[in-house]
Amino acid sequence: MSGAWATFGIDLHLQPAGPGLRRGLTDALREAVRTGRLAPGTRLPSSRSLAADLGIARNTVAEAYADLVAEGWLTARQGSGTQVAERAVPRRQDRPPRRHREPGRLPYSLIPGSPDVSAFPRAEWLKAGRRALTAAPSDALDYGDPRGRVELRTALADYLARARGVRADPDHIVICSGFAHGLRLLAEALHDDGTRTLAVESYGLDVHWNLLHRSGLRTIPLPFDELGTRTEELTASEGPRAVLLTPAHQFPLGVALRPERRAAVVEWARRSGGLVLEDDYDGEFRYDRQPVGALQDLDPEHVVHLGTTSKSLAPGLRLGWLVLPPHLTPGITRLGGALTTGVLEQLTLAEFLTSGAYDRHVRSARQRYRARRDALVEALAARAPEVRVTGIAAGLHAVLQLPPGTEETVVRAGAWQGLALHGLSRYRHPEAEPQPMDALVVGYGTPPDHAWSGTLEALCKALP
Ligand SMILES: Cc1ncc(COP(=O)(O)O)c(C=O)c1O
Repeated sequence: MSGAWATFGIDLHLQPAGPGLRRGLTDALREAVRTGRLAPGTRLPSSRSLAADLGIARNTVAEAYADLVAEGWLTARQGSGTQVAERAVPRRQDRPPRRHREPGRLPYSLIPGSPDVSAFPRAEWLKAGRRALTAAPSDALDYGDPRGRVELRTALADYLARARGVRADPDHIVICSGFAHGLRLLAEALHDDGTRTLAVESYGLDVHWNLLHRSGLRTIPLPFDELGTRTEELTASEGPRAVLLTPAHQFPLGVALRPERRAAVVEWARRSGGLVLEDDYDGEFRYDRQPVGALQDLDPEHVVHLGTTSKSLAPGLRLGWLVLPPHLTPGITRLGGALTTGVLEQLTLAEFLTSGAYDRHVRSARQRYRARRDALVEALAARAPEVRVTGIAAGLHAVLQLPPGTEETVVRAGAWQGLALHGLSRYRHPEAEPQPMDALVVGYGTPPDHAWSGTLEALCKALP
C-alpha cells in the first residue's frame, strides 16, 4: 500500500512495508525523519487525513504516531497536532555539504600538477565565450581546420612571441587537448618516421613516459646533476633521435636549464637532425628571477614548443598547443590535431587572450602563488629548519629536501594529518640514477584559498 500527502507544501511519498501495516507505517515515517525528508518542526497531517490518503484505518496511523512520539522522533501537543521533533536529525542546512570526494581521498592536498582551480576566472571566461560565440561565423561550428581555429592560432602566435619569446607562425601552430594529447601526436609522428627511442629527464611524470611507450617509443633517461639535465650527454652518432625536456622549470626538481646546456641540446639537434620537445607547462609563473625564454627561439626548425592552459587556467579545459617546425605540420595535422578540441573553447580562449583577460588573470594568479610560496618558505624556516626548500623561483611547486631516510615517513605523517603528499622518489624514471636526497614535491598552487592555511599547518605538523 502506498500514498502521498501534501501539507504545508510537503509532498511525501510513503510506502509502508513489512508484515503489519502499523509497523510498516512506523518504519517508513521514522526513516523519513531520520534521513531529513521530514525536517524538524514539520507538522504532520492529522491521523484522519493520512489514513484517508493511504486508505488504511485511522487507528493504525494514530498508533504509528504514538510509537514515534514515544521514541522521540515526533512530538504531539494539544492544539498543534503532531510535529517532527526539533533536532531529531540535523537540519539539512546544518549538515556539511556533500563533496564529490573519491573514497580514501584526503581533505588537504599538496600534490603538484594542478593550479588552484577554485580561482578559475569564471565570470571573465563566460564573458569571453559570449563575445566569441556572438562574433563567430556559422561555419565556425562546422568541421574545421584540423590545426584548430585560426582566431586561436593567431592569438597564440602573438601571445607566445610577446610573453615567451617563441617564434610562432599561426600556420604552424596546432591546437590540441592539452600537453598529453600533443605529446601523443608527436610520438605517433616520430614513430611513423622510424624513431624508436626518445631521451627524457631522469625525473618527470610517468603518465608521459607511459604514453610514449604505448606509441612504441623507448624512453632513455638523461643524467641529472645539481645544474640540471646533462644535455651534453646526447651524442650525434648514436642514441635517441628526440628528447623531451622541461627547460624553463624542470619538473619536478625545479631548476632552469643552464644556458650552456640549452645551447648543447640545440647543437645536438642540429648536428644529428634530432628533435627537441619543449614542455613549457608553467612558463607563465616566474617570481624572482629573469624570465627564462622559450628554448624554441634558439632553433625553431629543431624545437617543438608545447604549451597548455592546465597551469595558467585549469587542467579540465584540456586546451594546449604545439608550435611546430614547418616540416612537421602536415604529418601532425593528418594525425588529427584539433579534431578533438571543441571550437567554442578555442574561440573563447582566443577572445580571452586578445581581450587581455588572460594576462590579467595570470598576473593576479602569479601574485597569489607568490604569496603562498613566501608563506611556505617562512613557515618552514620557523617550524622545520632542517628542511631545505629549492626550485622556488618559478612555477607552482617546490622541492623540500628532508633529512636522509625520512621521505616515506613524512608522506605517511602527512596522510595522518589529512594531507596528501608526494615524495620525490615516485617521479624517478625506472632506469635513472636516484638523486642522493629524500624530498617532497610540494604543489603549493593546488589547494583552494580557504584551505591554504590548514594545508600549511598540516604540512608543518608532518615534517620532522
Ligand atoms: C611536467 C608537466 N607537463 C605538462 C603538464 C600539463 O599536462 P596537460 O596539458 O596534459 O594537462 C603538467 C601538468 O601537470 C606537468 O606537470
